[in-house]
Amino acid sequence: MAELKKFRFYGRRYGRPLKPARQKILSRLLPQMSLALDGPIENYQAVFQDSPRQVWLEIGFGAGEHLASLVNENPDIGFIGCEPFINGVASLLAKVGTMTPLSWPNNLKIFPDDARLLLRLLPPATLDRIYAMFPDPWPKTRHHKRRLIGFETLDEFARLIRPGGEFKMASDHMDYIRWTLWHFQQHPAFEWQVEGPMDWRERYPDSGQTRYETKAISQGDSCVYLTFRRLV
Ligand SMILES: C[S@@+](CC[C@H](N)C(=O)[O-])C[C@H]1O[C@@H](n2cnc3c(N)ncnc32)[C@H](O)[C@@H]1O
Repeated sequence: MAELKKFRFYGRRYGRPLKPARQKILSRLLPQMSLALDGPIENYQAVFQDSPRQVWLEIGFGAGEHLASLVNENPDIGFIGCEPFINGVASLLAKVGTMTPLSWPNNLKIFPDDARLLLRLLPPATLDRIYAMFPDPWPKTRHHKRRLIGFETLDEFARLIRPGGEFKMASDHMDYIRWTLWHFQQHPAFEWQVEGPMDWRERYPDSGQTRYETKAISQGDSCVYLTFRRLV
């Protein structure tokens, strides 16, 4: 009971009813692409059909623009995407899979739930990257404890990312950026990768713009792109 309360999810799981085509793609593809979790995962050999060169995780992929572009561009990398919002999962599936013929990428697994439930079941020092693109900022002070970034999740990220691997977080919410920098600066396992302003002003190369990023840019808001390296 205490465990369930600890991982209470505050976001939306469902939005507008899915159109029949989206519903069909969800019901056909999600069972093929879901990450099966019967207990802790020992290694990624059983997860991905072809042994990937690296494994990258995206938390809260939304409608999947960023994750789909990474999956398409990097067939030798294994990807895990976490997103509890089922309409977002259906959008990602429509971007990466086809119905006729039924096909889906071998290098992507989806966990359609709260990432915190998954993190503790993944094997240590096995992820090369974790992305959190425009995570919910929960701007009210009384809601800050709902933020994805916090000391507990940082401890999990430190356990999971291999030395030299990276955690990447982008946002247009400056208070959440300051919060993230402060938390990472307290943590001995991470170092902010920064030499000058371009290191946080330039978006991560070679990946699609997310829906929230596109919206922020179109409103003239600045986006910040942070990268933290897992120290040895
Ligand atoms: C502000 S939206 C950003 C979506 C997308 N990354 C973008 O930039 O367009 C935040 C997303 O994170 C998801 N989310 C929130 N908490 C999460 C959690 N604990 N685990 C996984 N996803 C989460 C939400 O469902 C939502 O889709």
